[in-house]
Amino acid sequence: MMESSGTTRIEQLLSQMTLEEKIGQLVMLSGDLVKTGPTSASVTHEAIVGGKIGSLLNLWGPERVRDVQRLAVEESRLKIPMFFGLDVLRGLSTIFPIPFGEGAAFDPKLWEATARVAAEECAVFGVDITFAPMIDVARDPRWGRIQEGPGEDALVGARMAEAKVRGYQGPRLADAGSIAATIKHLAAYGTVRAGREYASVDISERSLHEVYLPPFRAGVAAGVAAIMPAFTDLNGTPMTAHVAILRDIVRREWGFSGVMISDYSAVAELMVHGIAADQTEAAALALNAGVDIDMMGGGAYTDGLPQALKRGLVTMETIDSSVRRVLELKEKLGLFEDPYRRCGSAEAVAAKSAQRSRHGLAREAARRSIVLLTNKDDTLPLRDSTGVLAVIGPLADGKGEAQQDTAGKNPVVFEWLRDALPQTRVAFAPGCEIERGHKKALADARVLARQCDAVVLCLGETIGMSGEASSRGRPDLPHAQQELARAVLAQKKPVIVLLFSGRPLVLPDWLVEKAKAILAVWFLGDGAGTAIADVLSGRFNPSGRLTMSWPVDVGQIPIYFAERPTGRPPVPAEHYSSKYLDMPNEPRFAFGHGLSYSQFELSGLRTSRQAVRAGEALDVTVDVSNKGPQAGEQTLFLFIRDLASSVTRPALELKDFRKITLAAGESGALNFHLTTDDLRFLDRDLQPKLEPGAFDILVGASAEASGLLRTRIEVLG
Ligand code: BGC
Repeated sequence: MMESSGTTRIEQLLSQMTLEEKIGQLVMLSGDLVKTGPTSASVTHEAIVGGKIGSLLNLWGPERVRDVQRLAVEESRLKIPMFFGLDVLRGLSTIFPIPFGEGAAFDPKLWEATARVAAEECAVFGVDITFAPMIDVARDPRWGRIQEGPGEDALVGARMAEAKVRGYQGPRLADAGSIAATIKHLAAYGTVRAGREYASVDISERSLHEVYLPPFRAGVAAGVAAIMPAFTDLNGTPMTAHVAILRDIVRREWGFSGVMISDYSAVAELMVHGIAADQTEAAALALNAGVDIDMMGGGAYTDGLPQALKRGLVTMETIDSSVRRVLELKEKLGLFEDPYRRCGSAEAVAAKSAQRSRHGLAREAARRSIVLLTNKDDTLPLRDSTGVLAVIGPLADGKGEAQQDTAGKNPVVFEWLRDALPQTRVAFAPGCEIERGHKKALADARVLARQCDAVVLCLGETIGMSGEASSRGRPDLPHAQQELARAVLAQKKPVIVLLFSGRPLVLPDWLVEKAKAILAVWFLGDGAGTAIADVLSGRFNPSGRLTMSWPVDVGQIPIYFAERPTGRPPVPAEHYSSKYLDMPNEPRFAFGHGLSYSQFELSGLRTSRQAVRAGEALDVTVDVSNKGPQAGEQTLFLFIRDLASSVTRPALELKDFRKITLAAGESGALNFHLTTDDLRFLDRDLQPKLEPGAFDILVGASAEASGLLRTRIEVLG
């Protein structure tokens, strides 16, 4: 009923719209409250009233949105509401961990819950659609946008896509507290050449289909409202004009009927890529590929589409289809019923941002994102004693995260530690700046390290050193911080290193050898300080796991567990085998790595059946016991290895991850369920295929080969 009245409304509108008004619906400009691209726009009163802009990004706040919306729905000829978009990667009022950090929780329910809170906050701040989640699989730590995404594995990317879409969109887009999600950036942006931002992408069709497309397919299956193609070209065709993927695969094969929104000025950039001679050609290429909305195109659609129509490069039917999809999104968002539905009252806004449960969730998400990388001699948790704990380093006072929008609620590590360890005297010295050393600061830190009983050394990047346009050729600790770390370690006190970063960092061997414990603490948002104190003091038993392999050296990049086998596997004594002369093949920390204060042991890996036929399923069970002194949560990963197939398969393919929580001394069993669909692979023609033969089933706490239990099953023909 709703649907048919909506369809009638849309068709009626379409029949009344001038070409200029139609194209207006396809144009999104920036309100410039924040700047997320190189160009600016002037959003004028006349343009809105004239129906020349269908949506805005980077403008939020109930009053501001109301003012602009009022012009559209009261003063424009057809009174079509606008929608308002924003990158809400980790929350709006309540700030959660960066997505890369949150990934470490390996918990789709948590991923969904944080997106839900973000959506509820957006939905009173005037935001209708977010340009999130970013689900680009990435295997190169030099690329800064790793910060926004799920890490190196396609299955993790797919689970994150589903969870975030559910969280943002809720059961119905028109519900209070729901906003539209946008999965981005379709596809393979994470493989930009040498990790350099916006650079060209050249990958095989096979890896595109096996690794980079599946998270997007999962997002579409979960009902995502919008998709953003990547800026980058893929094997010679910029994604903004990629007919074979956008139109043939995503729209036709996957059945995506939502809106495609270009990335910031990506339509106009088709000219810079060199596939369009002018903006008319650029506009035609993008529209014909299925890109409905031109975000900040500098007039590409506004001026280019009328010309393209005249030159016969696009048809009115294609324009109408895009306009229809934009109007349908507005309909689904409930904007025709109530264009101000996401512009809460001042009280509602205050209430949303003050809710205590949100702070609880922020703390929970933050502590579950922390990964304990090493913990020698059970140095952690810290014992509350009357000694002196020195908190040293340029990241200890929250400056690392302060560069973004979280000023005022930063993780001042030493203050939170004072609360968590009331008996202990906590002293602080910065030691250096993030990327600059100071003799006096270094000397002060050295003295403090000499006089204390233990050191918490806070090193890493600021949040601005990862993210968009923040590739680093050498993703390591800046020189000044390495100098500080050497000086502190030389004092021979127990040193616990907290690494703040938006990516895997390349660490010096001496730091890993000499530090007693190392934790990855990413950028954790509002819950950061408490979460870090919770983990260091033992109030919370760490459970986070890496979503990406951490390389020993830049020379290993790209490095990921799902590598294909070689005909000459590495053998130390065999010269003619696949290895480096100057560094190991293995990462510093494997995918899935992460310690706990509990010690878990695995045994008894078994399957409910040893042989299966197409369409059948089996259970995989493993016994887990907690041998440690504390209750804890263990995440286990299930991988398969297809032993002989018509196409080479990765040495390990992740098929599932699950958790078990056990009290001290407790044992339990963890079950996985596998179907023969999980055993299929893309054959030589890239079609899914189940081939008879033997498969190894491997279960372990990470992708590290030595820790995996293995059993074998047979697929019968
Ligand atoms: C980014 C997108 C983002 C857009 C709007 C672009 O520069 O690549 O991820 O959604 O800006 O802010």
